[in-house]
Amino acid sequence: MTAPTAPARESPAAGPPPAVLEIRGLRVAFDVPAGRLPAVDGVDLTLRQGEILALVGESGSGKSALSMSLVGLNRGPRTHISGEVDFGGRNLAEASESELRSVRGKDIAVVFQDSLAALNPLHRVGAQVVEMMRAHRRMPRERAMDRAVELFGEVGIANPRDNARALPHQMSGGMRQRVMIAMGLANDPAVLIADEPTTALDVTIQAQVLSVLERARADHGTAILLITHDLGVVAEVADRVAVMYAGRIVEQGSRDEVLFDPQHPYTIGLLGSVPPIDGPVTDRLPAIPGNPLTGVDRPKGCAFAARCAFVRDACEEPPELLRRDGGPGHLDACVLPGSVREAARGAGRDPVPNERGRS
Ligand SMILES: Nc1ncnc2c1ncn2[C@@H]1O[C@H](COP(=O)(O)OP(=O)(O)OP(=O)(O)O)[C@@H](O)[C@H]1O
Ligand SMILES: [Mg+2]
Repeated sequence: MTAPTAPARESPAAGPPPAVLEIRGLRVAFDVPAGRLPAVDGVDLTLRQGEILALVGESGSGKSALSMSLVGLNRGPRTHISGEVDFGGRNLAEASESELRSVRGKDIAVVFQDSLAALNPLHRVGAQVVEMMRAHRRMPRERAMDRAVELFGEVGIANPRDNARALPHQMSGGMRQRVMIAMGLANDPAVLIADEPTTALDVTIQAQVLSVLERARADHGTAILLITHDLGVVAEVADRVAVMYAGRIVEQGSRDEVLFDPQHPYTIGLLGSVPPIDGPVTDRLPAIPGNPLTGVDRPKGCAFAARCAFVRDACEEPPELLRRDGGPGHLDACVLPGSVREAARGAGRDPVPNERGRS
């Protein structure tokens, strides 16, 4: 494993790196039997060149709906997408299918957890990476294959030249996942969207894959939106973190701000629900007491209010994502006074101590 590269930090002289993807007021709603489900409920988020932005939140909070909508992967008659996904002046939320096809895999690559569904079962994996490269640029087949084999080596596939000849079903899930990541990086994309890319991998391979992502960011300035349940992964590679709850971003800031100085009771609960280091290993975060909002009806005010031990009348108003008690880039959507958040942090990082039944 290579030494971790320095994260893309703001240098005071140069200012922050340029934005590559600016998401403004993004909404994604699905028609379901009960009505219209607001899976992504007005999200603003900026992804900057060369940064790794981690998007975290419980299952069902809308992380995948958000990431898929950025490149139109969940369009359909029952999906309603609105808002702006600004990529170099183009609004991808309104781009045609053919425009999106030329962006996907070249400028913006996506890696999802379900690698079996994403690969063509009938084609050898090396050939699929070659195809991905040649679909977007002129390149002799042999040179593309050499590059594919090199990428396979980089993502930790043993005997890369032999394994390039394998069919997807002949590989383990972890190997296929690494093929997907190699394919994602094949065209040196400006943006890589990785939805739980390492969840299925064992710890050693996971570290290898993360260092591949860090290298892509360092060598090519690739901006990475990394969706993960694993706060260990966040702590290791993320520059910034955005926390999603019920389709909204409730907190965002630098990794250290969010992990070590969380402001929103939901973030505090999420961090408190990390299993102890000597506890049972799970690939999902244990749930915060109470249930996430998954229905079609959403409160006008804070979506977390029903689960928050510190709820007040003020929580019935729609909370804005603002800088409150954190640093300049540290935003949260909790209207409670600082003293109350302090109490939330003090409650053993457990915003709902009573329901959890701890003594
Ligand atoms: N195609 C769809 N049709 C209807 N509802 C959907 C669809 N896709 C997602 N949803 C719903 O939208 C909400 C957000 O789902 P999403 O998959 O984005 O969550 P997630 O944060 O990625 O969860 P996980 O951590 O489990 O992957 C959920 O309530 C889910 O049931
Ligand atoms: Mg998901």
